[in-house]
Amino acid sequence: MDLKTDYMGLELKNPLVVSSSPLSMNTDNLRAYESHGASAAVLRSLYEEQIVSEMEGKLDQEDMYFWYPEAADHVRNISKGQILRPYLNYIEKAKNEVSIPIIASINCHRTGSWVSFAREIEKAGADAIELNVSTHLPHDSTTEARDFEKAIMDVVSEVKKQVSIPVSVKIGPYFTNIIAMARGLEKAGADSLVVFNRYYRPDIDIEQLEVTSENYLSSPGELSQSLRWVGVLSQQVKCDLAANTGVHDYEGVVKQLLAGATVTQFCSVLYIQGLAYITTMLEDLKWWMKQKRFSSVEDFRGKMVDDRLNTAQFEQVHFVRKNVRMFD
Ligand SMILES: Cc1cc2nc3c(=O)[nH]c(=O)nc-3n(C[C@H](O)[C@H](O)[C@H](O)COP(=O)(O)O)c2cc1C
Repeated sequence: MDLKTDYMGLELKNPLVVSSSPLSMNTDNLRAYESHGASAAVLRSLYEEQIVSEMEGKLDQEDMYFWYPEAADHVRNISKGQILRPYLNYIEKAKNEVSIPIIASINCHRTGSWVSFAREIEKAGADAIELNVSTHLPHDSTTEARDFEKAIMDVVSEVKKQVSIPVSVKIGPYFTNIIAMARGLEKAGADSLVVFNRYYRPDIDIEQLEVTSENYLSSPGELSQSLRWVGVLSQQVKCDLAANTGVHDYEGVVKQLLAGATVTQFCSVLYIQGLAYITTMLEDLKWWMKQKRFSSVEDFRGKMVDDRLNTAQFEQVHFVRKNVRMFD
């Protein structure tokens, strides 16, 4: 059975990629990813602020807004030579210990001197860079949406000028026109879009009267948002798509591939089930393919968006059809 997948020019043995999280910052875990069958790993992200802070020895006022005071102090203190070199060393170590592709990751939202660090990442041996451009939600009322979006596209084109390895862009769902944004990112040079980042979801403990953010793992029910947009975007962009958020089992993998994803990315399920669960997902995927008589992933990738009626179901048209009888 042929599970081989070309992701941004990287030859992956299957479409199961472990997404960015602290789990990837331990080479024992990377070895476990590989032995359990994952085809690539994304490392935890560095923040552009951390890179600037360490390269230039400063954290500017605007950054302070994003980093609440304790976090800003933390970044200042630990960024004195303690982040960038270790991150590069870790990439080198990872490359020595596993043969699956290693994708470095940077959280960023605007260009600056930090983009030159992408070259260091390439030199350290990373196979690709993932730019998570979704974590900074606009927090001032004066920035126009188009300026905010342009800044993100500029980041992508600047990073692309620095490196020859592929660059993927991890986005969130909060754009007025996701298709236009996706096309803009593709034009800026994105080799792949990761759809979507999952935000920490704040909650309020009404007993302690405290804001909490305990809810940091996804559930399988969260698949539908990325499924919809993978289905839509796979018809609208030519770059690869990595489906992310809510992929907890082979069914999630199969659905995203049927919607046109190139690969799936996941990490919550590994926190919940353990790293060996990658093997279960892989074996279950093969079992499903066998049942359906598909001998390769290409046999069914995008199968559910291959005609207009199916595609419409990923859009809102279906909602209209279902509600055609307004009154019974
Ligand atoms: C503990 C934890 C840490 C994470 N850290 C990062 C990170 O550093 N960079 C990033 O791009 N995504 C990060 N993520 C997001 C995941 O890569 C992924 O996009 C998200 O969890 C949705 O996938 P899932 O449904 O499989 O969890 C993190 C997720 C978790 C649970």
